[in-house]
Amino acid sequence: MQNKKRIIVGISGASGAILGVEVLRALQSFQDVETHLLITSVAEQTISHETEFSLNNIRNLVHYYHPINNLGASIASGSFDLMGMIIIPCSMKTVAGIASGYSDNLLLRAADVCLKERRKLVIVPRETPFNGIHLRNLSFLHDQGVVILPAMMTFYHQPKTIQDLINQLVGKILSQFNLPYTNYQPWDGNLDVYPKENDPL
Ligand SMILES: Cc1cc2nc3c(=O)[nH]c(=O)nc-3n(C[C@H](O)[C@H](O)[C@H](O)COP(=O)(O)O)c2cc1C
Repeated sequence: MQNKKRIIVGISGASGAILGVEVLRALQSFQDVETHLLITSVAEQTISHETEFSLNNIRNLVHYYHPINNLGASIASGSFDLMGMIIIPCSMKTVAGIASGYSDNLLLRAADVCLKERRKLVIVPRETPFNGIHLRNLSFLHDQGVVILPAMMTFYHQPKTIQDLINQLVGKILSQFNLPYTNYQPWDGNLDVYPKENDPL
């Protein structure tokens, strides 16, 4: 049994490629985590359109980068032990591929393997508005045990920058794998109790 906890990060071609990059950066701080990266061909376009990172920059953030069409890779098999997988951002096409079991690239195959091996699969869908097909597929994946963790904004921590919003999302994702992220501010209780003791009912 290997000592490191292996995790796959898949970046698909939805808007929000930076979210995937930030998850990879956050994972670098965990010495006992081994990272495996997949980038779909459309994600290569969104990365270049939306971020200042080159593909090489991103590949350098991980231990292993797997070309999207290499269906013979280690992570294509259930016999390769790992903790789970995060798909961030997750396009509606990738959602549909997982929901139908149509594994025609390595990202879809790796997600399929996570499901069949009952490993944790967290997807971060990014689309708005959703149509009925998106919602049906997401609901079906939820019922298969997939954690649907949409790229939604949080405000209770009083964000000042986009980075603050991203940090919060990254922290929520990593907490699914019991990986504590220092830039994450979990809600620690309301200081003001309602109803107040002396309030008239
Ligand atoms: C710039 C750009 C932004 C896109 N944004 C989204 C998005 O936010 N959500 C989504 O589901 N698809 C989005 N798409 C469409 C997907 O990229 C497209 O459905 C593609 O087939 C997804 O393939 P993949 O999941 O293999 O990466 C976008 C495409 C481009 C070029």
